[in-house]
Amino acid sequence: MKRVFSGVQPTGNLHLGNYLGAIKNWVAMQREYDCIYCIVDLHAITVPQDPAELTANTREVTAGLLAAGLDPKTCIIFNQSSVTGHAELAWILNCFTPLGWLNRMTQFKEKAGKRRENALLGLYAYPVLMAADILLYHASAVPVGEDQKQHLELSRDIAGAFNRAYDVAFFPLPEPMIFGAATRVMSLRDGRAKMSKSDGSDYARINLTDDADTLALKIKRAKTDSEPGLSFDPERRPEAANLLSIYAALAGEPVERIVAEHTGMGFAAFKGKLADLATATLGPIAQRMRELQADPGYIDGVLADGAERARAIADANLAEVRRIMGLLDA
Ligand code: TYM
Repeated sequence: MKRVFSGVQPTGNLHLGNYLGAIKNWVAMQREYDCIYCIVDLHAITVPQDPAELTANTREVTAGLLAAGLDPKTCIIFNQSSVTGHAELAWILNCFTPLGWLNRMTQFKEKAGKRRENALLGLYAYPVLMAADILLYHASAVPVGEDQKQHLELSRDIAGAFNRAYDVAFFPLPEPMIFGAATRVMSLRDGRAKMSKSDGSDYARINLTDDADTLALKIKRAKTDSEPGLSFDPERRPEAANLLSIYAALAGEPVERIVAEHTGMGFAAFKGKLADLATATLGPIAQRMRELQADPGYIDGVLADGAERARAIADANLAEVRRIMGLLDA
């Protein structure tokens, strides 16, 4: 069975972009593939983290994954720092990654901004850790949102560099799996900016923990344009296209069908329908998340079990990496 790996950072609330771009697809794949899903706390520390919040967020994101429908018996769910092989393989892969490749990463450029000299090495090396996450398990399929595509291409290049250096076909070249109607969910306040955890305004995003009233209010206040009636034209009408894509993804329908059904409808009426659909699909997830969060012992148990199963695979692959490289296992 094909092995799938993907990850999500435990930095604040899961939002609709995480859900529609990634987690919903993870759930859909869990019975067809051998799936490993990771709460990537070592990625989260590439920016400053409050220790207590990091622990709480790790549990919260785990609760979110379970509430969204991941079955911890079927797939492996664990937090990255519990399996030390991630950091070890990342170091090894650092030694196969030219700086020129990292210099191309747009996410680093965006995050480091103008203060590049002060940017941390961890933030710069982040995509190498991401490659290590995937390659540690020999995963060949990686379901992610559109924004991770460039990092996935780098993972392929790094896998190839290692294989070439030792003339082996050891690491499979991971394939991004980017699918569904909303692979890039945009901010509700600006149809040209990605919905993200770091947006200053909470009205820019829908959190998986938002209650029905908050959901309805955020959708009602979502930015629109002044053209009458809806149409799907991401270039010219990014806000309308975003709302239509969100609707299609929540409904599990192709965007073309949703567009055909709603062309000409006014924004106000459509937003009402979207709020109802969002409440019906996300409401039960939020409810289940609250129940799960009331039992941190259960959450920690899921992570411990996942880490043990992940470690077994990781250790075997790392032993092989050491053997290939001639690192003496004394
Ligand atoms: P992260 O935590 O930023 O996001 C988790 C997943 O959600 C997707 N996503 C979106 N999809 C659509 N629209 C959006 N607005 C949106 N925002 C986020 C992301 O594409 C991602 O799939 N570096 C990764 C985590 C990671 C990882 C990995 C992923 C670490 N190691 C190995 C795959 C394989 C990240 O920061 O995701």
